[in-house]
Amino acid sequence: MKHPVELRHASRLVNHGPTVLVSTRHGERRNVMAAAWSMPVEFTPPRIAVVIDKSTYTRELVLASGMLALNLPCAALADVTYTVGTLSGRDDGAADKFERFGIDHFDGPELGLPLVAGCVAWMECKVLREPHVEAAYDTFFVEVVSAQADTRVFANGRWAFTDQNAALHTLHHLGAGAFARAGAVVQATVLTTKD
Ligand SMILES: Cc1cc2nc3c(=O)[nH]c(=O)nc-3n(C[C@H](O)[C@H](O)[C@H](O)COP(=O)(O)O)c2cc1C
Repeated sequence: MKHPVELRHASRLVNHGPTVLVSTRHGERRNVMAAAWSMPVEFTPPRIAVVIDKSTYTRELVLASGMLALNLPCAALADVTYTVGTLSGRDDGAADKFERFGIDHFDGPELGLPLVAGCVAWMECKVLREPHVEAAYDTFFVEVVSAQADTRVFANGRWAFTDQNAALHTLHHLGAGAFARAGAVVQATVLTTKD
């Protein structure tokens, strides 16, 4: 079901503002956290802004490695999303969050980052360093270098949310572990001009 997404379509993966899982690796150390605050800022090359707080272990690994992956969890991964967004990798002791919670993962095709299995889209990204913005606003700008998606729910450069694939819909955080699914699609058309 996993299929490459053309880089010119990668920004569309987060156009609707889903919660993402930010996964990282630096040497032997790896980690994953949830982030509700991300947005596309450029189509070509595909660039995304994501807020990564100073308190997070993720930020330490991102700064050390210069890369991160954005994984898009679906409704079936709500508990995983809430868990990795509630606990810090710094508290894990010997086992990292992947090991501790049995989170399946696979290596990204370009950067070898740990990508979370069961998500519906994955992007490996290089950090475009902006030290002032990072320090002042906790915002990291990244450029997507590989993108993949689950063809059951993203095909031909478009999300295809239907009642039949509800478990694969992306998540929107409402607070305190409650999420809305992205499934209620409204197809708009351009209004005709009144004369
Ligand atoms: C649904 C959800 C969304 C979150 N969004 C963000 C976010 O956008 N930016 C951020 O810095 N932290 C966010 N957090 C909090 C981090 O995921 C949390 O601090 C996490 O424990 C950090 O893990 P780490 O220290 O292992 O990196 C969110 C948490 C949840 C549950």
